[in-house]
Amino acid sequence: MKEKFYITTPIYYPSQKMTLGNCYTTVICDAVARFNRKMGKDVFFLTGTDEHGQKISLSAKVKGVSEMEYLNEIVSDTKALWEMLGITYNKFIRTTDDYHEKAVQKIFTELYKKEYIYKGEYEGLYCTPCEAFWTESQLVDGKCPDCGREVTPQKEEAYFFKLSLFTDKLLDLYKNNPEFLQPQTRVNEMVNNFLKPGLSDLCVSRTSVKWGVPVDFDPKHTIYVWIDALSNYITALGYGSDDQTLFEKYWPADIHMIGKEIVRFHAIIWPAILMALDLPLPKKVYGHGWMLFGGDKLSKSKDTGTVECIDPRILIPLYSADAVRYILLREIPFGSDGNYSTDIFLTRFNSDLSNNFGNLVSRSLSMLKKYFGSVLPNTPKATEEDDVTLQKEVLAEVNNTFEYMKNFDVSKALMSIFNIFTLANTYIQKVEPWALAKDENKKDRLAVVMKNLIESIRLGSQLLQPFLPESSTKVLNALGIDSKGEFENMDNFDGVKAGTTLESPGILFPRLDKEAEFEKLANLVNKK
Ligand code: MSP
Repeated sequence: MKEKFYITTPIYYPSQKMTLGNCYTTVICDAVARFNRKMGKDVFFLTGTDEHGQKISLSAKVKGVSEMEYLNEIVSDTKALWEMLGITYNKFIRTTDDYHEKAVQKIFTELYKKEYIYKGEYEGLYCTPCEAFWTESQLVDGKCPDCGREVTPQKEEAYFFKLSLFTDKLLDLYKNNPEFLQPQTRVNEMVNNFLKPGLSDLCVSRTSVKWGVPVDFDPKHTIYVWIDALSNYITALGYGSDDQTLFEKYWPADIHMIGKEIVRFHAIIWPAILMALDLPLPKKVYGHGWMLFGGDKLSKSKDTGTVECIDPRILIPLYSADAVRYILLREIPFGSDGNYSTDIFLTRFNSDLSNNFGNLVSRSLSMLKKYFGSVLPNTPKATEEDDVTLQKEVLAEVNNTFEYMKNFDVSKALMSIFNIFTLANTYIQKVEPWALAKDENKKDRLAVVMKNLIESIRLGSQLLQPFLPESSTKVLNALGIDSKGEFENMDNFDGVKAGTTLESPGILFPRLDKEAEFEKLANLVNKK
């Protein structure tokens, strides 16, 4: 039986302005999901939308439509964007889905029956745009620490979850299971900012918010944000429904991939809820960094007043989904923040995609055409030092890629893959195949060199498939390799059979004139 692998993105707040930054978590998850499928695992990849709360009602009202009309349009736009980006999710959950709402009510009632939830009165400082209550000590300059806006004191009858019971259990969890929350900096943050001071009980219902799941035994209360949103990771698998087959198969999650600003919810509140329900905890929560635009995150409640083009719906048709996936995965060091600008994007497009990868493929295949009529020759075993060294170094990078992907480190994995292309390009400069071609006695060596190049491209492209599926698939098809199957021949230089005729995949990433592209993008952004 195949090993299961369950990976999740957070459920997204429905937003018409999905920026490149918003796509980051989903693109990482897609690369990891595809990689694990190619490793032969039975992958379940979940994404979806977080559709309740006051903000949705307000936005729908402003548009003069019902909440569901408002949401349906955004959800179909979001799904269209994921399709443009080639996101291979297995399930898309909406928190307005009937099965989810019913399961959330069951979870709430069970927690109440187990006396983990009790009725009280909530008094706090509330940020309406973020739908979050804060304590005085959490505010930054007296304002919401997430969006920097005013908060107002609010009081109401509410149900509470006994989060305070879990402080020591969570400290033990982090101590005994250092894999649970990563990177390590997030553990320090959770311990110092929340666990050491001691956790307070958590408000889990509201009476003032109507757009949400009602508490079934006290319907004037609406289940407030976190029990509703976090439960999606299990309700999507049928937890709390008549059919729990998927839940039994895939839970616990192998990884919840999330942005660093929602680590508290996933590494404190969620495990506490699961412990209260007597359910196994996710194996890992990873709090990745942000893609920054001019030093800012530009998402959620903030405005995007910039001339830089950060709209994936403009960038994908112009430069390909692969290029957009590449910049997201490569430019942000996994676990840290990374900067984005149009200049960075265009520079990487030209240097990495067009020059390093695209050019290697096209020059290698045109040499094969010129010297061997596009047919991969039979080759003797490599004995020359340069040829043997290339093989060794390429296989070491293949190995590095697998190692990095064990820790989901997509940016380092991509670096290793592109190192393969760099190694092959440097090798061409060094061995000068065109010089070998002039000497009849060097025909065998030339065959070894060509085989080395084709195999380096093959190995690199196979590894690249989860990251840049379109271009790598074109290359693999050109090499006659089954692009749909699992990783094969990843520890050798014998993937492409001698005698195969290799087609050219065409130009993969046409070199861009940066100035012209700047102008084009500025015009498109200004038109919007
Ligand atoms: N709805 C909550 C999650 C609930 S999960 C039970 C939420 N949604 S969100 O739409 O605001 O964010 C979705 C994901 O997008 C988060 O992982 C967030 O970190 C990520 N990003 C949004 N802007 C981003 C950047 N600029 N850079 C990187 N990722 C960021 O939070």
